[in-house]
Amino acid sequence: MVQLTLPKNSTVTAGKHHPAPAGARKVKTFKVYRYDPETGANPRWDTYDVDVDACGPMVLDVLIHIKNTMDSTLSFRRSCREGVCGSCAMNIGGRNTLACTRGWEEEPGKVVAISPLPSQPVVKDLVPDLTLFYAQYASIEPWLHTETPEPQKEWKQTPEDREKLDGLYECILCACCTTSCPSYWWNGEKYLGPATLLHAYRWIIDSRDEAAGERLDALEDPFKLYRCHTIMNCAQVCPKGLNPAKAIAEIKKMLVERTI
Ligand code: SF4
Ligand code: SF4
Ligand code: FES
Repeated sequence: MVQLTLPKNSTVTAGKHHPAPAGARKVKTFKVYRYDPETGANPRWDTYDVDVDACGPMVLDVLIHIKNTMDSTLSFRRSCREGVCGSCAMNIGGRNTLACTRGWEEEPGKVVAISPLPSQPVVKDLVPDLTLFYAQYASIEPWLHTETPEPQKEWKQTPEDREKLDGLYECILCACCTTSCPSYWWNGEKYLGPATLLHAYRWIIDSRDEAAGERLDALEDPFKLYRCHTIMNCAQVCPKGLNPAKAIAEIKKMLVERTI
């Protein structure tokens, strides 16, 4: 009989409790995933009773407040704090999203759980290791491929052709979609995942690109593309309102059409 055992450090233990400061006016509790692979200790849930009256309106404001006033050891990524860079993507209240655009008041429960994006190795606390995600993105060669001699000034595009890129170019590569995809959880090493496939489609349909055939050839693979089973988690979580599942369906359609 097969015996399945989980890795030693896979159990998340109860962690430290950080009480609210004296005189706190409005307290909300945040349960935050903590893990430092260098210590060899198991991950833990630390709880912070935060005086949200002293914070800005977003979950990122709460994390910055915790780091500045309650626990400077907490690690998380952020840069733009306005939904543009994608670096503060994490799982908040069970859903992948951006900490800088998610209001803490939007989280209904008394206790809000915050953990790193699922299914990726953890560098520390809320910081996921996205090496594989970026390598997969690079693998689709996300730049213009042309054979025509380069124009003196710029590659031109009609307004209609430019419009075809709407709903695609806005992607900020936050990885919320890819790390919410069950197919990616099971086959992440081989399946490219929704974000990378959305970008693959963006280059295939770019009227200035001259390598659509080669790009489709590269995707015609039982794992890279066809692990998408249209579960739609990707479209539900995208903080920019994009629909990677639709882009994936379009690539599949193009592959079928070119065989007819
Ligand atoms: S639709 Fe496809 S890519 Fe999106 S979550 Fe489902 S399986 Fe993953
Ligand atoms: S499609 Fe949306 S969720 Fe996926 S990486 Fe791009 S912006 Fe993030
Ligand atoms: S900090 Fe840039 S998207 Fe949140």
